[in-house]
Amino acid sequence: MTDTSVGIDAVEIHAGKLKLDLAETFAPAMGDDPGKYTKGLGLYASSLPDTYEDIVTMGANAAHRLMERKGLEPEDIGRIDVATESAFDHSKPVSTYIAGCLEQVFEGDFHHANKGERKFACVSGTQSVDDAYNWIRAGRNRGRAALVVATDTALYARDDPGEATQGAGAVAMLIDEDPDFVELSTEQGYGSADETDFLKPQQQFPSVDGKRSVNVYLARMREALVDYESVGGDIHPDDFRLGPFHTPFPGMVRKAAVLAYRHITRDTEIEEELAEEIGRQPRPEAFDDEEAYTEALGEYTDALKDTDHYQGWYDRTIDPTLDLSREVGNWYTGSVHVARVSGIRSLVEDGEDAEGEKLLVGSYGSGAQAEIHVETIQENYESEIEALNVDEQLAARYDLSFDEYEDVHDAHNFDEETSVEEFTAPDGEFVFDGWGRMGERKYRYVE
Ligand code: CAA
Repeated sequence: MTDTSVGIDAVEIHAGKLKLDLAETFAPAMGDDPGKYTKGLGLYASSLPDTYEDIVTMGANAAHRLMERKGLEPEDIGRIDVATESAFDHSKPVSTYIAGCLEQVFEGDFHHANKGERKFACVSGTQSVDDAYNWIRAGRNRGRAALVVATDTALYARDDPGEATQGAGAVAMLIDEDPDFVELSTEQGYGSADETDFLKPQQQFPSVDGKRSVNVYLARMREALVDYESVGGDIHPDDFRLGPFHTPFPGMVRKAAVLAYRHITRDTEIEEELAEEIGRQPRPEAFDDEEAYTEALGEYTDALKDTDHYQGWYDRTIDPTLDLSREVGNWYTGSVHVARVSGIRSLVEDGEDAEGEKLLVGSYGSGAQAEIHVETIQENYESEIEALNVDEQLAARYDLSFDEYEDVHDAHNFDEETSVEEFTAPDGEFVFDGWGRMGERKYRYVE
């Protein structure tokens, strides 16, 4: 068992190469006010995959860039874990396909790397990071690092309320000792229960009870926060510079943030300072029944939302983590990892010295499980952020018309053959290259 620092050494993002503009293209076609998406959900655009892109190509492209940038060879990687909710095979893991792609462009191979696939909706990206952390801390890594890839084509059925929150992209992370980017805490909190809010029983597009899923997110996150505090101690708003949370859409995080703030300000000087303006937080013992207590708590929370205290904390701690999500939509397993990058990137852009600052990271997966842990920003975070090319990727996306969007959506229902032509030209990347004789998907690197 090693006690060295372990965390995320490097990160790379690969966004789907198509863009659906929600205000300009989606809202008019759906007969909706664009404000429902931009203000209500907090989303401007979705990244969608071109016809030659899928979870393998996006994951392999992110991992390829990460390995090249860090000067890594396959023998430096002892483990490849893929987290996804969009897998197309119940037996052969996506990590084998990604390793196969990478072996086309690197000299060595990954024959001695342990490969797997993690499933628990969106939280499985963080679970894979945890698995890698545990493997390294247990001293089983033989000096090698782990590659974790969170990759999804997060598409909903046409006309499902979730359609506006779609997205596609991959996040590749290198988990290693003495990390350059963020160190992970040993302490974690969990909130987990058997829930039926969002599931994909043998189907590409999910069955979703959208309204219920929002309440389940809030309930499990709260449980995880309380569980974290039982090992990490009470949380105070000033303890954390950023709070990257799983972001199915920014409006979801807005709902969660005020509940979290209410919880972490209880019994603090902030609650006292706010008492004159909005009173103290209701306590259950002061009420005869649960309903009256819940109502009072709701009224307090509504008032809290409008205070300068809360607004200042939200603008500083939460809002910067949502910048990328607004432009790409939900990436399921990659979403919280995009939020982390987004938040730290804003600190770099503002020229802030953030080394040693803490992040309160909230991951969530439907079905349902939330996990809270803490991360500490490391010395080389600035160069890790500056190496990203995510802005260039987003600017280069092909802007779909609504008719084109309908075609590309159908093309990604994996039950169907497609005749839809590609919208962009692949350049220095892995592409889907048709089907093999056993029904496997084939890939090729395009120079
Ligand atoms: N201007 C401003 N705001 C507007 C507006 C306008 N013109 N029109 C509507 N709004 C607001 C609404 O008031 C609402 O805000 P509040 O929730 O704060 O009241 C918001 O826009 C959304 O409007 P609706 O509630 O009417 O939207 P909807 O019912 O069509 O869809 C949803 C909302 C059910 C969440 C849907 O997007 C959905 O099903 N999403 C997929 C499921 C999901 O993401 N759930 C989140 C938790 S589960 C999870 O996190 C796992 C995961 O990744 C899937």
